[in-house]
Amino acid sequence: MVDVHRSIDGFRSTLDSLRREGATVGFVPTMGYLHEGHASLMRAARRDCDVAVASIFVNPLQFAASEDLSTYPRDIDRDLDVCSGAGISHVLHPSVEEMYPGGPVLTSVSVSKITERFEGASRPTHFSGVATVVAKLFSIVGPCRSYFGEKDFQQLAVVRRMARDLSMPVEVIGCPIVREPDGLAMSSRNVYLDAAQRDAAPVLYRSLQRAASLASTGVLTSSDAPSVNEVESVVADAIAAVPEAELDYVALVDALTLEPAHAVGGSQRLLVAARFGSTRLLDNIAVG
Ligand code: PAF
Repeated sequence: MVDVHRSIDGFRSTLDSLRREGATVGFVPTMGYLHEGHASLMRAARRDCDVAVASIFVNPLQFAASEDLSTYPRDIDRDLDVCSGAGISHVLHPSVEEMYPGGPVLTSVSVSKITERFEGASRPTHFSGVATVVAKLFSIVGPCRSYFGEKDFQQLAVVRRMARDLSMPVEVIGCPIVREPDGLAMSSRNVYLDAAQRDAAPVLYRSLQRAASLASTGVLTSSDAPSVNEVESVVADAIAAVPEAELDYVALVDALTLEPAHAVGGSQRLLVAARFGSTRLLDNIAVG
């Protein structure tokens, strides 16, 4: 059974009293339309902490005017079943008015530098919307461990940096990407793909795997490591060969700072974003 809280004060005081009784809290923020990826974060929170809680809130601040806020998929009854099956005991499911009373916020959180490239380049206001709502949720939840999927790798880096820079009493935990059997990373946006786009979409993970293995072969054999361009081209070329897909970016970056790599080696991440029709899909893989 999941307790659903529509009020911020009620949710906050429930968590405060659980902590007073000695419980540790694991928190999974979501925008709903939950899938196995979210469920895996919730199970991790439940495994690591005494109490696992979640939020379900489609955050208007992180959508640009041209984006899919009104059509963003929603199914609260199914979401609550997923939460309950994954060990969540309390869910904050506030209205927009409860979260942002009096209209648009005058206070926002912006994380510079790591937000400028990649997702930030095509969605300039997105990360301040994410950082603002996550900061607000962290302030509501209080001291906790909070779980984020590695699929949105740049988001994870931004939230980690924000929590560190602002000394928030939150340990941010990144969890592995959960994939469909054919390798497509699970995402609430996958429902927008038509049949041909869905068939084509696993090109992202297939090409990332090939690129990561090219990178590690050079490094492991200490033969001439491939260049960054050679590694990125494996993904770019594979996507160019698929008519349903259009590459937005592919980039080998430092796994912590997200600065573009100048050479292959060390702890890196290969990031990709591509459009399938009007749906933008993201994926990434560890390199090194
Ligand atoms: O990843 C998401 O679902 C959202 O960006 C988040 C972190 C819940 C903030 O609205």
